[in-house]
Amino acid sequence: MYVEMKHIHKTFDGFLASNDVSFGIEKGRLAALLGPSGSGKTTILRMIAGLDRPDSGDILINGVKVNDLPGSKRGIGFVFQNYALFRYMTVADNIAFGLTVQKKGKAEIKRRVKELLELISMEELGRRYPHQLSGGQRQRVAFARALAPNPQLLLLDEPFAAIDAKVRRELRTWLREMIERVGITSIFVTHDQEEAMEVADTIIITNQGSIEQIGAPEDICRNPKTGFVKEFVDVRRYEILRQMRESSPL
Ligand SMILES: Nc1ncnc2c1ncn2[C@@H]1O[C@H](COP(=O)(O)OP(=O)(O)OP(=O)(O)O)[C@@H](O)[C@H]1O
Ligand SMILES: [Mg+2]
Repeated sequence: MYVEMKHIHKTFDGFLASNDVSFGIEKGRLAALLGPSGSGKTTILRMIAGLDRPDSGDILINGVKVNDLPGSKRGIGFVFQNYALFRYMTVADNIAFGLTVQKKGKAEIKRRVKELLELISMEELGRRYPHQLSGGQRQRVAFARALAPNPQLLLLDEPFAAIDAKVRRELRTWLREMIERVGITSIFVTHDQEEAMEVADTIIITNQGSIEQIGAPEDICRNPKTGFVKEFVDVRRYEILRQMRESSPL
C-alpha cells in the first residue's frame, strides 16, 4: 500500500469528524472519497497532507509513519475546491511556485513549467493571469502547479465543484487521463456518485466520520454492504453509466 490510514480518530471540539478510519491505497491508483456533506472527507485529506493532526491512529506513506513529519516533507500535491491560484501571478509563475519555494535553479524551473504547460495543453497561455482564464483552465493550472515539484501523492478536494456540468464531465475524463499518464497515486474527494464511478479505481464511502464500504465501483453497486450505502448509491445510475461506456466508440 502506498497510503495507509490506520484507526484514525479526529475530534473538533468534542465532535467526532473521523471515527476509526482505516484504508489503504496501492501505488499508482486513483481512489475516490465519496460521501455526503460533513461526512469527514476533507478532514481525511487534510490529515494526510499534514494540515491537521489525528488524535490517534497512524498515517503511513510508502511504509513510513508520517504523523510527525511536516506536510511540506510528505511529497504531496494538493488541488483545492476553490481555485486557489495566486491572483497577481501569471499562469507560469503559479505553476513555478513550489519550485521557487524549493529554490530550484532558473533554467530548471523554466524547463519544468514548459513541460507542465504542454501537459495541460496550455502552452500559449503561460503569460496570462488567472482572471483571464475559464474555470476549467484555472483548475488545469491548479493541477499543474500541484504536480510541479514531482509529488508522489496527489490529493484533490472536489476540484470541479465550482464548474458547470458539461465542462465538469470533460474535465474529469481529462483528469483521469492525466493521472494515468503521470502515474501518480491520487485521492479524489467528491460527493457526486457519478464522478466517483467515472474516475476512480476504488471508492471509499464515508458517512458521519466513518468508512461504510471500500471497493471497486462495480463492487459497491452490486454488493452494497450497509443500509447507508444501499440508499446513497444509486445502482440505476451506475447501470446507465456502464451502458453508456460500453456503447461508446472509445
Ligand atoms: N476546523 C474545524 N473545526 C470544527 N469542526 C470542524 C472543523 N473541520 C471540520 N469540522 C467538522 O467536521 C465534520 C466533517 O467535516 P469535513 O469538512 O471533513 O466534511 P466533508 O465531508 O468534507 O464535507 P463537504 O462535502 O461539505 O466538504 C463537519 O461536521 C465539520 O463541521
Ligand atoms: Mg469537504
